[in-house]
This record gives sequence, structure tokens and C-alpha cells, in this order.
Amino acid sequence: MTNSDKPLAVVTGGSAGLGLALARGLLDRGWRVVIDGRRAELLEAAAELLRIGGADVVAIAGDVTDAGHREELAAAVGERLDLLVNNASHLGPSPQPPLAAYPLDELRRVYEVDVIAPIAVVQQLLPALTAARGIVIDISSDAAVEAYEGWGGYGSAKAALDHATRVLAAEHPDLAVYAVDPGDLRTAMHQAAFPGEDISDRPEPVTVVPAFLRLIDTCPPSGRYRAADLAGKATKNAEVGA
Ligand SMILES: NC(=O)c1ccc[n+]([C@@H]2O[C@H](COP(=O)([O-])OP(=O)(O)OC[C@H]3O[C@@H](n4cnc5c(N)ncnc54)[C@H](OP(=O)(O)O)[C@@H]3O)[C@@H](O)[C@H]2O)c1
Repeated sequence: MTNSDKPLAVVTGGSAGLGLALARGLLDRGWRVVIDGRRAELLEAAAELLRIGGADVVAIAGDVTDAGHREELAAAVGERLDLLVNNASHLGPSPQPPLAAYPLDELRRVYEVDVIAPIAVVQQLLPALTAARGIVIDISSDAAVEAYEGWGGYGSAKAALDHATRVLAAEHPDLAVYAVDPGDLRTAMHQAAFPGEDISDRPEPVTVVPAFLRLIDTCPPSGRYRAADLAGKATKNAEVGA
């Protein structure tokens, strides 16, 4: 990438939803950003939009579960990485099945994308993160904490990711390592979680970007945070979110 004076971030799943909004927010702050996503056309269209005004964006099409793709991300990053956002995620079937009837191949895919891949991306990028004493943000969900009926696949995977985040923080006190629950957001994943429902009352992803930027700016102790708390707003624990 160009201009190595600027801080560098990798945002997985940066072609849509929260990842795209976070990429925009970081670029507006003068960061360089690497984004990925499986659908190359969607990713390239997002990157073109992000580049308006000369922003420094690298888009690498691929699947975070693919080791070769993770190597491509590392090659684009080089020696120093200031921020990794493990945002790409897989909900599982829509509508979500109860655990007793959950197809196990689908469950494995949820765990592959939502647990194994974020850990694998950290493994791949750890030298660059360590060199920069960087920040890792694993995107969580309230479904990681609350036992909502029908959310046993995705929710338990996000719970596993939360715990992996805590262990990573304990093992790497030189890094800042966070799990962040963004809250309900009006995105494709949220629509898949509530098929056929009108989700137009959910906030747009851009509304939580200031909370993430506050986290990055203030660098509190490693741990689990909710975007609503970081933004200083009240949270509604009772609501189900993706
Ligand atoms: N939306 C909510 O209400 C909500 C609530 C709590 C937590 N979250 C979390 O917030 C994060 C973002 O979700 P979102 O709602 O913004 O989802 P989204 O709008 O569906 O966007 C998901 C992004 O991830 C990419 N992606 C998905 N699977 C991928 C894979 N295997 N490899 C690489 N990229 C992949 C998608 O592109 P491709 O499909 O082209 O790969 C897309 O860019 C997720 O971690 C989600 O669990 C969301």
C-alpha cells in the first residue's frame, strides 16, 4: 500500500453492512484500509465508492476461511498493522433452525466462519499487529450472551469467539483485544435473521461508527464492550439482534 505514515487497518467483510461503514469511518480519519469479501463485484463496487476523494483502499476478494486468501491479506499488510476488525460472519440457515434440528454441516460452516477464521486471521497477522502494538476487534453479538431460541448456532459461535478474544487478550498484553457487540443494525444479515419482517426501524450501521472510533481513540483495557455503551447511550438487553 502507499503512504506508510498513515495507520493501517484490515476490515474483513468490508464490502457491505457494518464492515463497509467502519472502513468509511477509518478512511475519513486518514487511515489506509484493506477490505475483503467473497463477492468480487460487490467488493470492487464498495472499494470504488470508498476511493472517491483519493482514499487509500485495497480490496482483496476472498473467503476468510481460505488459508490462501488470508496469506493474500498478510501480503497486502506488510510488516505493520495497527487495527484488525474481524467483522465477516455467517449467520447460518434462514430461518435459523432450533439446535435439535440444526444441520451439522451448516453448523460447522457457522463455526468455521465465526470462530476458526477470526482466530486464523489473527494468527496470520499477529507479527504485523505485534510490530505496531495494534488493536484487534472481534465483532460479537448480544446472541453471544443471551440464550435466544433459534440462535443456538450463531449465538454459541459468537460466544466461543468472545472467549477466544479474552484468551487472546490474556496471552498478548502488548495488544488491545476487544469483542464488541454493535447492537441491532439494518443489514443483509439482520434481514436474514428476521426473514419477511420489516427491519426498517433498526439503525443504519453508520450510527455505531463513532462508538468504534471512540474505542480505537481511547484504547480502554482489553475486554468485551457494547457499542451502545461506548457511545454513552442506554442499551436494551432484552432485544434480539443478529
Ligand atoms: N446486523 C446486525 O444486527 C448485527 C448485530 C450483532 C452483530 N452483528 C455482527 O456484525 C458483523 C457485520 O454484520 P453485518 O450485519 O454488517 O453483515 P452483512 O451486511 O451481511 O455483511 C457481511 C459482510 O461480510 C462479508 N462476508 C461474509 N462471509 C464472509 C466470508 N466467509 N469471508 C469474507 N467475507 C465474508 C460479506 O460479503 P460477501 O457475502 O460477499 O462475502 C459482507 O461484506 C458480523 O460479525 C455480525 O455477526 C450484526
